[in-house]
Amino acid sequence: MCRSKSQQFEAAEDAGSNPSRADTIGDVIATRLSRRDLVGGILAVSAISSIMPLAAEAQPLAKTANTTPNFNFKEIAAGSDQAMHVAEGHDADVLIRWGDKVFADAPAFDPRRQTPAAQARQFGYNNDFLGYVPLQGSSSRGLLVVNHEYTNEELMFPGVGRQDTTKFAKMTKELADIEMMAHGGSVIEVRKRGGKWSIVEGSPYNRRITATTEMRISGPAAGHPLMRTKADPTGTRVLGMLNNCAGGMTPWGTWLTCEENFNGYFWGSVVGHPDEQALKRYGVPSNWYNWGAYYDRFDIAKEPNEANRFGWMVEIDPMDPKSVPVKRTAMGRFKHEGAGGVVNKDGRYVVYSGDDERFDYVYKFVTEGRVNARSRAVNRNLLDKGTLYVAKYNADGTGEWLPLVHGQGKLTAQNGFRDQGEVLINVRAASDALGATRMDRPEDIDVNPRNDKVYLILTNNGNRTPNQIDAANPRASNRFGHIIEMMPDGRDHASTKFRWEILVKCGDHTIAAVGASFNPATTKDGWFGMPDNSMIDGRGRLWIATDGNSPQATGRADGVWAMETEEPARGTAKHFFRCPNGAELCGPCMTPDMTTFFVAIQHPGESEDPKVLATFESPSTRWPDFKPDMPPRPAIVAITRRGGGRIA
Ligand code: FEO
Ligand code: CA
Ligand code: CA
Repeated sequence: MCRSKSQQFEAAEDAGSNPSRADTIGDVIATRLSRRDLVGGILAVSAISSIMPLAAEAQPLAKTANTTPNFNFKEIAAGSDQAMHVAEGHDADVLIRWGDKVFADAPAFDPRRQTPAAQARQFGYNNDFLGYVPLQGSSSRGLLVVNHEYTNEELMFPGVGRQDTTKFAKMTKELADIEMMAHGGSVIEVRKRGGKWSIVEGSPYNRRITATTEMRISGPAAGHPLMRTKADPTGTRVLGMLNNCAGGMTPWGTWLTCEENFNGYFWGSVVGHPDEQALKRYGVPSNWYNWGAYYDRFDIAKEPNEANRFGWMVEIDPMDPKSVPVKRTAMGRFKHEGAGGVVNKDGRYVVYSGDDERFDYVYKFVTEGRVNARSRAVNRNLLDKGTLYVAKYNADGTGEWLPLVHGQGKLTAQNGFRDQGEVLINVRAASDALGATRMDRPEDIDVNPRNDKVYLILTNNGNRTPNQIDAANPRASNRFGHIIEMMPDGRDHASTKFRWEILVKCGDHTIAAVGASFNPATTKDGWFGMPDNSMIDGRGRLWIATDGNSPQATGRADGVWAMETEEPARGTAKHFFRCPNGAELCGPCMTPDMTTFFVAIQHPGESEDPKVLATFESPSTRWPDFKPDMPPRPAIVAITRRGGGRIA
């Protein structure tokens, strides 16, 4: 079987690594901050608005939840072709592509003469999370922060398209170095003039972060013996971040970027490793990249602890291009998909995050301290102290957050957890011990600050057997995924209790055997499978981005769907945007005034047929350039309403 990198990722998540008992029953930045918190005096509006102005549309929190406005656009046809499509009356313009200049002195992109030095100055590959940081409160000038999750060597480099049997045969150290520079993230200043967005090439804010950028490790696991390496005997400094998928923006203006499938970068064999079981629980090593052939730190035989230094939530200050990114270990080590944050009613910050693997868990982190609107400096290390919890979903629609605290319950030295650092480094095992609910691949999770409802996106789990179903994961062989709505007790995100219900089970709801549950008002174009990223817009409306739809799987490409959450339209989806062939949709993000919708098109040009490997020479589309000598390029698209005005 020929498999692209993203297919390898999917297959590995398929395998899962959770051997625990079968529990058989079973942004727009402003929107992340509740208006109520602002007007309630916990946060001073004047101070915080200099960091993040309120959405123009934001209203004082309604007493009833049923005031979310409906979506107003004519939906597009579901389908699949080489182009992108957006709802009538909107324009979709490419803003920046892989290889475009981030710095004024960067060389022009030449796909046949790539170098690591050039890539380090150019926009990276496979854009995922997007966050918009307004400059002086503006919705037409700001910083876009972008995750570069991973690389597809078969689409990036001429001549390396390969069968699995000749894996890495043509991958040289030079190409591995280019890949390392194409990972990480970008900060780019963007500006809208005459209704169109462009990059400010020479902006002093512009920054590239790569797999080699020096970062600090902070929190309870910093300095832990399991975090020490030959290059870093202190266990507090690490080079790079890997496989940064989704993320979130904090109200103090920092970017939380989430390391997801870090296991794929480690090389060698786990047999005989002193922490064999612990590494296996994370799928380390997976040998998806050959960096370990050139760099000892990616070879687990040569550097046994390096893998422990990945799989974290990374906090970056985009306003300071010289700032050192920080890995916040208090938030746990797992395959973090995203970071859904909210300022709780008591002022503490709460971040929800899913561990994207079949049968893995949903987490939340509650800070010990409170957000301080008057001083960014006070918030600087807020994420170092607090309590991490893992979710248990009960069959009666209630749920519990189980604290991952050393010394409590089974999290003791006797059970293999010597201290809090070890609980956090091996948090999957700690969650196994607590009896958390094994989920159908938790992807994004977002909080609606208007009503405190939390939306958890579960993408699919083809491996769940009939005797493994439970109330929160009710479909065996769950091919199409589902979305769960969670309501914290007392609208208190620090509460250990919540209620939950399934918002929608995905797939074609007109075929009974599929078991989907969209509102019947959903059209043949409106349903989708494999939800992945989510966003709550400035009006409290839920948007869903997908990863895994294809002509074969669902008769449609991935894209963006609008999702009604309140009765009577609750559960109705409408198709807003469609990706070109082979791509998934990531990073949905709006400007505070809701007039621009940024989306990330990831891995365009991959094959639609699992038996065929798309390559640099024969991609499934050459979007967005459509030139015979140019490969497909992951890119960010800015969607605006023709003639101005709010999206949808
Ligand atoms: Fe990188 Fe779970 O998607
Ligand atoms: Ca994702
Ligand atoms: Ca996904």
